[in-house]
Amino acid sequence: MAKHKIGILTSGGDCPGLNATIRGVAKATYEAFGEDKVEIIGIHDGYHGLIHGDYKAMEPSDFSGILTTGGTILGTKRTPYKMMQIIEDDKVDKVKEMKDTYKNLKLDCLFTLGGNGTHKTANMLSEEGLHVIGLPKTIDNDIFGTDVTFGFHTAVDIGTEVIDRIHTTANSHSRIMVIEIMGNKAGWLTLYSGLAGGADIILIPEIPFDIAKVAKACQRRADAGKAFSIIAVAEGAFDIEEAKLKKKERAKARAERGEVTATARIAKEVQARTGLETRTVIPGHILRGGSPSAYDRILATQFGAHAARLLKQEKFGYTVAMVDGNITENKLVDVAMKTKFVEENDMMVLTAKDIGISFGN
Ligand code: F6P
Repeated sequence: MAKHKIGILTSGGDCPGLNATIRGVAKATYEAFGEDKVEIIGIHDGYHGLIHGDYKAMEPSDFSGILTTGGTILGTKRTPYKMMQIIEDDKVDKVKEMKDTYKNLKLDCLFTLGGNGTHKTANMLSEEGLHVIGLPKTIDNDIFGTDVTFGFHTAVDIGTEVIDRIHTTANSHSRIMVIEIMGNKAGWLTLYSGLAGGADIILIPEIPFDIAKVAKACQRRADAGKAFSIIAVAEGAFDIEEAKLKKKERAKARAERGEVTATARIAKEVQARTGLETRTVIPGHILRGGSPSAYDRILATQFGAHAARLLKQEKFGYTVAMVDGNITENKLVDVAMKTKFVEENDMMVLTAKDIGISFGN
């Protein structure tokens, strides 16, 4: 019998849990068909490798010892979906090249590990006739149709530790600390780490804030004898004035003012309005670094095993998901062009409000 030949790639921003998921897919596929009946091709740097034929045949030993390691053994790149169908100066027809690589390799299936952009291209390739199975990765937790993505909870743990550590120095110096957490479109990571770390104010893109109310919340705490305040702000958060502008206009206005980061804008205004000393902290890519948490190792393994199950059932054009706590799958076409945002009545937002956390609105 011919071998089952599968390709696997990781695309978009990296996160803890990618290697654990690669391992889960590989081990479960070997188990399902027998190690000698499977050939796994590791595609380098995401779709870039698929376009340019950059890959290597993997051995079972390549998947050992990677459960705990951060990053991705396959490498990753951002290859924006909106550029996929555009032939640029390099004259490369990316869609054709990806299909050619898949066909030349005689793949039976391609596993794509990635976030929203990755899922859009995965769906496009599936519609082009390739056998594709997606796996939902991102610290942003914003993939539609799944309760959770792998990488998210590790980033929440890191964000929480950042906020914990800031508490002690904020307290010692009686300062307002503005901490910027990754998340350009969705505020899940800021919301969860803000709640777990005990932030006093949480600002997310889904809930435009009024800077006067943010300053007032800090002042109220100071008046009550609480010398410091912690503001957790998502990198993509904006105020009610900026909410009236289009994304590009917002970026232009910020660049003109020399206030590109959310922390810079908020810290300056809060200090000016309250007279309280203010500092900013941006953990940035630290949130995506290092070993996955136990939760993410388990989730990655569950997701990987389910992806292998889908392969066995020849169920292509799907992406793995967790729905109401169960590991299942969604059709790529149903989730690929959507984003999961925080709703104003999300349970976590309501819980935060119940204990007096301000969203500045
Ligand atoms: O999508 C994950 C993410 O970390 C976002 O939260 C962040 O806005 C973006 O990636 C940063 O991208 P890059 O690593 O390309 O700077």
